[in-house]
Amino acid sequence: MIELEGLTKRYGEKVAVDNLTFTVRPGIVTGFLGPNGAGKSTTMRMILGLDHPTAGDVRIDGTHYDRLQDPLTYIGALLEAKGVHPGRSAYNHLLWLAQSNGIPERRVREVLGEVGLTAVARKKAKGFSLGMGQRLGIAAALLGDPRILMFDEPVNGLDPEGIHWIRTLMKSLAEQGRTVFVSSHLMSEMALTADHLVVIGQGRLLADTSMAEFIERNSRSYVRVRSPQREALLDALHQAGVTAVDGADGTLEVDGTPAEKIGELAARNGVVLHELSPQQASLEEAFMQLTAESVEYHAHTGAPLPPQQQWGESWRKG
Ligand SMILES: Nc1ncnc2c1ncn2[C@@H]1O[C@H](COP(=O)(O)OP(=O)(O)OP(=O)(O)O)[C@@H](O)[C@H]1O
Ligand SMILES: [Mg+2]
Repeated sequence: MIELEGLTKRYGEKVAVDNLTFTVRPGIVTGFLGPNGAGKSTTMRMILGLDHPTAGDVRIDGTHYDRLQDPLTYIGALLEAKGVHPGRSAYNHLLWLAQSNGIPERRVREVLGEVGLTAVARKKAKGFSLGMGQRLGIAAALLGDPRILMFDEPVNGLDPEGIHWIRTLMKSLAEQGRTVFVSSHLMSEMALTADHLVVIGQGRLLADTSMAEFIERNSRSYVRVRSPQREALLDALHQAGVTAVDGADGTLEVDGTPAEKIGELAARNGVVLHELSPQQASLEEAFMQLTAESVEYHAHTGAPLPPQQQWGESWRKG
């Protein structure tokens, strides 16, 4: 278990982490989500005692990181996969970590096998691809067989096979009853992996909720309807008390009425339909809405924000 209480970090004027209070629980994967610069890595560094909080507190199973004896056996972390001496082999990198934490050499060979690096174990880390480096970082996190695991953006730069592998690994670690805390700036990735979500923006807590609840509250479903007799269709819908809004390319979007009912209504009124398709809005959009006001680095593409302003709003109130 990881417990944060009013955790705050200031760099001069800049508040990187702002009064965060939440608990990361065992047996599930907790996703730590926020746009670039939200304060995810800073929070993780404070959990590991690599940065000192300006205010507040963070404890690992009730203790501060620097009080843990053989810390790698309590908590394993992948923060920056590049934190490896380039001239050292994968095997030697893991060996010195093991030796400094009272972990037997046998365990080094075990984790190399687990992450699929046995064949290149004696090769120097500087020749490793991004994905291999990421796997080595994960091997280091697993080395002490810790009950708590923390990964900062572990899928960055991985190919689809690597992403699938990490996802499966995190889920199986949680199923073994471990605490798994993983950061990402991609909602789509978290939707497939996390059971619980902690969302931050500009250092502040925006949401602390189960994934199921987040999905339930944020997936707007509607029906997209396309007809060459658009006006006649609008009249028919209107008379039946069904509201439709303009969609893209002349389509109509209908909330809260099943496709069957719309189809029957059209048939009764002799209106021809070219499309009648139930749609599910993406969680990525819901996440963007939730964090919209707290995004630091906007791209100046001129692209409009998604229209579903109300999700983020209703979500925050609820
Ligand atoms: N050592 C530092 N000195 C000054 N400012 C810092 C320092 N470390 C982080 N910051 C600032 O604190 C904020 C949070 O940064 P952090 O790296 O924690 O964000 P993040 O959520 O991990 O972002 P990303 O998704 O890009 O990894 C940023 O505005 C960053 O510029
Ligand atoms: Mg980061």
